[in-house]
Amino acid sequence: MPDRQAEREEIRRLLLGGRSLQMLAPRRIGKTWLMRRVAEDLAADDWITISSDVEGMRSEEEFLRDLCAKIEEQESYGKQVFLHLGQRLKQITSGTWEGGPVQAIGRVDPKAFVEALIASLDAEGRDTVILVDEIALFVSRLLANDAAKASDFLYHLRKLRQSYPRVRWILTGSIGLDVVARRGNLHGALVDLDILPIDPFDEQQARAYLDRLCAANDVRRPFALDDGGFHHLARELGWLAPYYLRLIADRIRPSGAATDAGRPLALVADIDGAFEELLKPYNRGSFSTWEEHIDKNFPPEDAVLLQAILEICCEQPMGETFATLQTRLSKTLRIIPTRDVKNMLTALANDGLLHEADGRWRFRSGLLRRYWMAYLHP
Ligand SMILES: Nc1ncnc2c1ncn2[C@@H]1O[C@H](COP(=O)(O)OP(=O)(O)OP(=O)(O)O)[C@@H](O)[C@H]1O
Ligand SMILES: [Mg+2]
Repeated sequence: MPDRQAEREEIRRLLLGGRSLQMLAPRRIGKTWLMRRVAEDLAADDWITISSDVEGMRSEEEFLRDLCAKIEEQESYGKQVFLHLGQRLKQITSGTWEGGPVQAIGRVDPKAFVEALIASLDAEGRDTVILVDEIALFVSRLLANDAAKASDFLYHLRKLRQSYPRVRWILTGSIGLDVVARRGNLHGALVDLDILPIDPFDEQQARAYLDRLCAANDVRRPFALDDGGFHHLARELGWLAPYYLRLIADRIRPSGAATDAGRPLALVADIDGAFEELLKPYNRGSFSTWEEHIDKNFPPEDAVLLQAILEICCEQPMGETFATLQTRLSKTLRIIPTRDVKNMLTALANDGLLHEADGRWRFRSGLLRRYWMAYLHP
């Protein structure tokens, strides 16, 4: 079964049912990858798909320009939409600009423009999905410039989702839109979106994924795994996202006997060797998303507290109890109210860094814990 088949089918079902979605999941789990596959699936079903990565964009105008460029790419369909759009914009502006619709950007209120655009797409009578990646970084930047404008824009998009149901939306990003929305009091603008959490692979999916990589010679030194080897790898990794599975797989130097699959068996020692290699300084870049994540996602005063929590929790694989955590934080930082510590732990759990098991807060990924201990522990 191809990867993420269940998620892809669920997304298609929800969209067919007229829903728009918000994909919330921790870093590196495969949100962008999944969005691309969903766009391909739907394009094959004759949907119009418009994908926009808004990381680095600074204004609504930039976003609109990008949407127009993506529509223009769709040749004859794009021309039809632009024809419609041009007519609508001419009515709004009494024709005060020359050339195509793109030339009207910046002269027309962005809300009026986006409404004309969505109305034109809707009027074509084909199912359309607009997939927006890194939406929270964009909204966060809009908020920093002009909070009222950001809120207006998001609420307006919600209204458009209601008025033009043929145009569906999928929003995602490396930081959660929910977190940014809470900061800007924008939750109401998102309530109509179905939340779609994405989990890491389960053991069966992870094993099938590794097998596929090796069978397709898509790792540096293809290997085979027996039950013992796989479970050792899964236990050490703890977080079976394809990104980390691949990082490890690429570093395994199999030293066991040849197997029926024609590949040598990876022994437990080979797997341990791969973890050690991955934790060498020249591989630090593979983990940098997690370090920057805290700074990107949280205000500085929270970031200090979050880092302090992670520093304590990385010390042991089994993590730390809430009570000890709070006591130690009060010694190193200041007295922190229970509620604040709980909020921070929830944020770290939502982001996939920590989870609570047997009354202790621990790293989800054994690999990431070892990384934290090696490089970020004071
Ligand atoms: N189902 C999958 N099968 C194979 N590879 C995958 C899968 N999902 C993700 N990957 C790979 O894992 C890496 C991380 O995926 P991706 O960039 O989609 O994650 P993300 O959740 O968008 O991360 P971020 O939060 O940093 O934006 C990429 O190299 C991608 O190709
Ligand atoms: Mg991404």
